Amino acid sequence: MIALACDHTGLALKQEIKNLLDSMGLTYKDFGNYENVADDYPIFGYRAAKAVASGECDRGILICGTGIGIGIAAGKVKGIRVCTCSDVYSAKLSKQHNNSNILTMGARVVGSELAKMIAYEWLTAEFQGGRHQNRIDMITRIENGEELE
Ligand code: RB5
Repeated sequence: MIALACDHTGLALKQEIKNLLDSMGLTYKDFGNYENVADDYPIFGYRAAKAVASGECDRGILICGTGIGIGIAAGKVKGIRVCTCSDVYSAKLSKQHNNSNILTMGARVVGSELAKMIAYEWLTAEFQGGRHQNRIDMITRIENGEELE
């Protein structure tokens, strides 16, 4: 189950991502916003991030104007590793090396075709584990307030 969310800037792109997920046979839950009224991206980023952190959803795709604000908000939730991407390579590597569990994109930055390519590569990439897991464990220690050295 994929958590989806956007602010008012991302409604059209979120629909394009739903179309992509439908074509891939992937299920999703939409955490808003649902209408074109000015709103606050942290609300939607937080809702979706909580769903991923709790296990209700296994990953998430979030959209705001730049992808940055909603990504910063989502990344404040423990256990969330956000990648904000506007290129395919970063999206793929963010899964293979960083095991990112939330992808964010900017509706004012990327066109819908590029956004769908980015999402597709991110959704189909696999975490490589090994030395990368050690580094993620270090990130988790930072999150837990532990010293690294
Ligand atoms: C809304 O104007 C805009 O600030 C928001 O969508 C996002 O880009 C913030 O990071």
